[in-house]
Amino acid sequence: MSAPLPDRHPVPTDGVRAAFDAVYNWNYEPEIDELRTLYANALDRQWIAMKQLDWARPIDRDAFSRTFSLGGIPIQHTEFWKNLEPGLRWEVARRSAAFMLSNFLHGEQGALMVAAQLVNAVPDMDGKFYAATQTLDEARHVEVFAAYIEKLGTVVPIAPGLKRLLDDVLAAEDWKLKAVGMQVVTEGLALYSFRDMRNTTKEPLLKEMLTYVSRDEARHTGFGIKYLNHVVPTLSDAERATIEDFAFEAARNLLDSRRGGTMRESVLALWKEAGLDPIWAIGEIAKERETVAAALAQSGGMRGPVRGFVIPTLKAIGLFSPRIGHHFDEMFRSNIGPDIGSTLDDPYALPEDLEAWVESAA
Ligand SMILES: [Fe+2]
Ligand SMILES: [Fe+2]
Repeated sequence: MSAPLPDRHPVPTDGVRAAFDAVYNWNYEPEIDELRTLYANALDRQWIAMKQLDWARPIDRDAFSRTFSLGGIPIQHTEFWKNLEPGLRWEVARRSAAFMLSNFLHGEQGALMVAAQLVNAVPDMDGKFYAATQTLDEARHVEVFAAYIEKLGTVVPIAPGLKRLLDDVLAAEDWKLKAVGMQVVTEGLALYSFRDMRNTTKEPLLKEMLTYVSRDEARHTGFGIKYLNHVVPTLSDAERATIEDFAFEAARNLLDSRRGGTMRESVLALWKEAGLDPIWAIGEIAKERETVAAALAQSGGMRGPVRGFVIPTLKAIGLFSPRIGHHFDEMFRSNIGPDIGSTLDDPYALPEDLEAWVESAA
């Protein structure tokens, strides 16, 4: 008699029911040159995470905590941050970063699953080829974020807003909704955040890892832009409106503090656990708001990832009508204040070469 199978199943799982058409394409000739070029470029730029980065290197704690940017808020420039006792500063930075990087990690898992769905769901062979390379890229991103977080401590559970967003994108039936939710909104926010962290940190392993990851993400955003640009002009007004609504809901899941459970609230709770009173800390940072504003102006960060990147992307692909612009304006007004101006008047344009932009300082 053979030995019984090891008792491994069922394993506890979390999931969402996904129903979409898996689409064949019997034409194997290249049809959308831009996507075929992007695919060739992706093959050329593959990297092997465990070979090309030095994982034996311990985290440089001092560099890490001195140059820690809190999700785009440059607290590292304040006297408050510089004068924190180094042990406490490391602990606050470590816990905040474990939270942020854990959510990047969970987002990467979502991206991995959505990219695999896109291989099935997109109708064009060039799109399937490209999505196949992205699937491998995202697996590598899950691998590297998990490896880095292991050096920082434990993985923090996914933030509720990000989970809602990933569930919605995975469950969407139409590949165009998946593309706008993942490639444009999620990847756009991720690319902006990774680039910000990459440009700020002086911790060598984190910087190197984010450089590689951001190059890949620049391609992923490029895929969303190029593919949707090809498709959006062929849609009816009603179809376009559905995609715009989906993009807005995706952004709202992550950003709208009226829904509660924002990233900011979670990070402040972690500060408290680390031994830093968040109310006192915010008061101290507020005393230096001019320093923070000057640093933000320098990095172009005043715009933030949505106004500075996601909305310009939506505009570039014809998915930002006045109707949806007003929804965004209303969200920003209630979250930030009445004087923020209209997104419809914003002059921000996307950088022409996203990959070059990733490695530019500002
Ligand atoms: Fe990724
Ligand atoms: Fe990606």
